[in-house]
Amino acid sequence: MLGSIRAEDGSFWLFGYGSLIWRPDFPYVERGPARLHGWSRRFWQGSHDHRGVPDAPGRVATLVRSAGAVCAGMAYRVAPEASERVLASLDHREKNGYERHVVELELAPARRVPSLLYLAAPGNFAWLGPAPLAAIARQIATARGPSGANVDYLLELDRALAALGERDAHVEALVASIGEAPASSTGAAS
Ligand code: SIN
Repeated sequence: MLGSIRAEDGSFWLFGYGSLIWRPDFPYVERGPARLHGWSRRFWQGSHDHRGVPDAPGRVATLVRSAGAVCAGMAYRVAPEASERVLASLDHREKNGYERHVVELELAPARRVPSLLYLAAPGNFAWLGPAPLAAIARQIATARGPSGANVDYLLELDRALAALGERDAHVEALVASIGEAPASSTGAAS
């Protein structure tokens, strides 16, 4: 799979759209804002290991196919000599239902590159799926796991998107629903 996305020098791009935007936690040689066309970010994936526990899972971001949608995030270029180590640590970090997936990414300024991302597809063992916004917000507001409070995941993501100058209606609606002011309305985007 990796062979198909490696650049001539052996490096490859990885797209982060959730915690991988603000806490990459792996070595990279270059990074920059990126956009993924045809996918929407949704808090439809259960977290039993990071932002929740098996009896009370949290909700974290995944991507769902959505014609015409654009998902903004961060792209990282990983050097060939680091790739095995980086992928092993990400496979472990994203083990709660995410799998490697290849997409075409738009880097800024407009440039298309093949990229890897971690996708939690519908029906995986930790999939929670859609629910009324207020119910998702309630779950996020109360869940907590080894990586911290679920609400901090949401707020960090909201801040990171605002810092990129990007908007995500689903993220902003959740932030508003738990009673916080979205970062985009508090000047954090500047
Ligand atoms: C990602 O950030 O790209 C994957 C989901 C997560 O780790 O939050």
